Amino acid sequence: ELCLCTTKLQMVAVRQQHRFDQDSLERYLSSRLPGFPRQPAGALAVRQYSSGQSNPTFYLQKGGQAFVLRKKPHGPLLPRAHKVDREYRVQKALFSAGFPVPEPLLYCSDVSIIGTEFYVMQHVKGRIFRNISLPEVGPAERSALYLAMIETLALLHSFDLQSLGLQGYGRGPGYCKRQVSTWKKQYDAAAHTDIPAMNKLAEWLANNLPPDDNGESLIHGDFRIDNIIFHPTEARVLAVLDWELSTTGHPLADLAYTTQFYFWPTSIKDLETPSFEELVSIYCRCRRISTTLPNFNFFLALSHFKMAAIAQGVYARYLIGNASAENSHEFANIVEPLAERGLELSKKSSFSSTQHSISGELFHQSRKGQEILLKVKQFMKQHIYPAEKVKIKYYTEHRNTEDKWKKPALLERLKELAKAEGLWNLFLPDVSGLSQLDYALIAEETGRCLFAPEVFNCHAPDTGNMEVLHMYGTEEQKKEWLEPLLEGKISSCFCMTEPDVASSDATNMQCTIERDGNSYVINGKKWWSSGAGNPNCKVAIVMGKTKNSSASRYKQHSMILVPMDTPGLKLIRPLSVFGYMDEIHGGHFEIHFNDVRVPVSNIILGEGRGFEIAQGRLGPGRIHHCMRSLGAAEAALEILCQRAAQRETFGKKLYQHEVVAHWIAECRLSIEQARLLTLQTARKIDMLGNRRARKEVAMTKVVVPRAVLKVIDCAVQVCGGAGVSQDFPLAFMFASIRTLRLADGPDEVHLSTIARWELLDQSKKLTAKI
Ligand SMILES: Cc1cc2nc3c(=O)[nH]c(=O)nc-3n(C[C@H](O)[C@H](O)[C@H](O)COP(=O)(O)OP(=O)(O)OC[C@H]3O[C@@H](n4cnc5c(N)ncnc54)[C@H](O)[C@@H]3O)c2cc1C
Ligand SMILES: *[C@@H]1O[C@H](CO)[C@@H](O)[C@H](O)[C@H]1NC(C)=O
Ligand SMILES: *[C@@H]1O[C@H](CO)[C@@H](O)[C@H](O)[C@H]1NC(C)=O
Ligand SMILES: *[C@@H]1O[C@H](CO)[C@@H](O)[C@H](O)[C@H]1NC(C)=O
Repeated sequence: ELCLCTTKLQMVAVRQQHRFDQDSLERYLSSRLPGFPRQPAGALAVRQYSSGQSNPTFYLQKGGQAFVLRKKPHGPLLPRAHKVDREYRVQKALFSAGFPVPEPLLYCSDVSIIGTEFYVMQHVKGRIFRNISLPEVGPAERSALYLAMIETLALLHSFDLQSLGLQGYGRGPGYCKRQVSTWKKQYDAAAHTDIPAMNKLAEWLANNLPPDDNGESLIHGDFRIDNIIFHPTEARVLAVLDWELSTTGHPLADLAYTTQFYFWPTSIKDLETPSFEELVSIYCRCRRISTTLPNFNFFLALSHFKMAAIAQGVYARYLIGNASAENSHEFANIVEPLAERGLELSKKSSFSSTQHSISGELFHQSRKGQEILLKVKQFMKQHIYPAEKVKIKYYTEHRNTEDKWKKPALLERLKELAKAEGLWNLFLPDVSGLSQLDYALIAEETGRCLFAPEVFNCHAPDTGNMEVLHMYGTEEQKKEWLEPLLEGKISSCFCMTEPDVASSDATNMQCTIERDGNSYVINGKKWWSSGAGNPNCKVAIVMGKTKNSSASRYKQHSMILVPMDTPGLKLIRPLSVFGYMDEIHGGHFEIHFNDVRVPVSNIILGEGRGFEIAQGRLGPGRIHHCMRSLGAAEAALEILCQRAAQRETFGKKLYQHEVVAHWIAECRLSIEQARLLTLQTARKIDMLGNRRARKEVAMTKVVVPRAVLKVIDCAVQVCGGAGVSQDFPLAFMFASIRTLRLADGPDEVHLSTIARWELLDQSKKLTAKI
């Protein structure tokens, strides 16, 4: 009731040595603190927070109001320690600047009130997590919390001391030098045995101070997740606590301190938190600095030294019987490993960030995009990859039965999970709030696993169909079909291509849609209707001819909604892709329409508008497809490299044969080039809209499948026979990606279009010159 903390901040009765005159405090607050309840006198309740801070901290409650009081300890104190006036000052400045800290309400230097200086601040209700792996929340929320934490740190470091009014707050240049000597002194005072690694580390630090040790950013000094109060339900920082060690200095010292646990000897690497690289890249992006982090090895080594010195101090207090916690004796055991790790880290030369984040940085991924991408990555790790095997087993077992078209129960469960995490319908900007660029990066992640897009309700052809209904559907059409599609309750298919005519020229299309009273009657044959085999597929968007002799070639076709159970609609057969039935995606069907009758209201946008809709449907969707297949390429390159490092021929590992090494390099080149083009196109769509990015979309549509196929082909080659077998996903990947060179228009058609636009652009340049 006192606090919504997940792990409650423990409060105890005020300790003997920290007692003070509560009546005096109450009288003082009644007269000085606006809003402090005056009545009834003597009703002030005081409890002490049991954890951590060296400045005793108290919870005050009266008349339903809560405050927090922090004071100096009694008795003689070390110089420059326990400066509560500084804490008050820095919190005041930050609070005024909009930074999340508890609002400081009152500072009292009059020691006659409670025996020492103190200050009172607002009591913030929220969550505090004591365990850095945040076991209380799921991985997606955990990522979001970490993200919020690191953004808050970046915000702190971006303040200007002058504008905060904090000139003179720190001790001037030389922060790192002072830190090394402070912690060396603390360590020496507490050392009980000789630990050579500690001495070496101290020496290394003293001799390798960073050249830019004159930084004067405001830094926190003890920025950890357990010094943060998060919003009770949202991933938002409400307040950063414990400013005792705040000063001015080098911001990377804070960053290293916050992220040091990634490098600890007992690593938490396997826990579901964002990676070190992800956090760092977000921090750097927020601060608009390069992700190369000069001298980060120094700051990590310093953090390890500091932790080791603190651990030694805790142990020393245990030895003289002044231990604060029961496990204090264990601290002796971590000093040496920390020092050794610090020494190792001191030798590491570069700490830079991942390629993905760099792409995102280059193209201005939004904050929301980053957050969702992190969540999706965690979700893939936690739920999708482990489900892959179950999924494969299902399809192998049901290969020869009709059940193969059904979706395994597991899929529905995963969909529910994704929906609950808010990872749902990410493809639709109006729903998700994401840009095409944001979504492109997410699509790549989901593309690493062939069935993953469906888990997030982001799979073709439903995405395109939902876009069509969203953009062009009537209110009734939206209610009947779009809503259940957005909820993932039904699925759909798209029927354009026909067996009897070359459909890459869609004006060839022969299927007829004829008006008859209050109905349209559809007659014709379609094939390659993807997803039609899924028993959940309830509606088709059919494109056909609504002849109009007074209109142009591109106004002869229309799109219409046809429920799959309409009489006369018949699934003829599934088509195979290089022998694969592609059950995962509901197959690709030939469908015949014989006098299929639907109400006039099923037409989308109106007669003759089919091409107009087709244009709108395919812009962003193609980019998403491309990004998904880049995810597959990354997965294939991973397999390639693993295999090349495992197997040997003619006395060396496969990758040691130069030709294989070159393939690896070529694959990386292809992927990077293709990704850059795709993101560039996504950005252009964001800035200029679908139409003006048409040339780029066409270019991307040609470039990416080529690049991806090249990577998969190399992976197959390196894996040998295994590569084409069912034991590896490469064969199916190849088959699927190969179809992208024809589906949605063959390469040749796109190349012709690109050439036409190129010539047009060139001719415009010419006219401009004249
Ligand atoms: C796995 C898969 C899923 C699909 N899903 C769907 C779906 O859900 N709905 C749907 O309606 N369709 C779907 N399709 C169909 C796909 O969009 C068509 O196959 C594609 O548009 C090409 O049409 P077509 O097969 O009739 O080839 P054609 O039009 O007969 O073309 C054959 C070849 O002719 C050449 N060619 C064509 N035009 C030119 C030109 N201008 N210059 C030079 N050469 C040219 C190209 O090499 C082309 O590959 C899918 C296809 C596949 C393989
Ligand atoms: C923190 O949480 C992890 C994951 O649940 C757990 O394994 C670990 O023991 C916890 N650590 C502490 C100190 O409680
Ligand atoms: C141990 O703690 C007690 C009580 O806080 C204090 O009086 C004493 O000075 C401490 N001893 C040392 C050696 O710090
Ligand atoms: C046929 O096309 C003409 C010219 O575009 C248009 O005015 C007319 O409305 C169309 N007829 C129908 C039935 O859509």
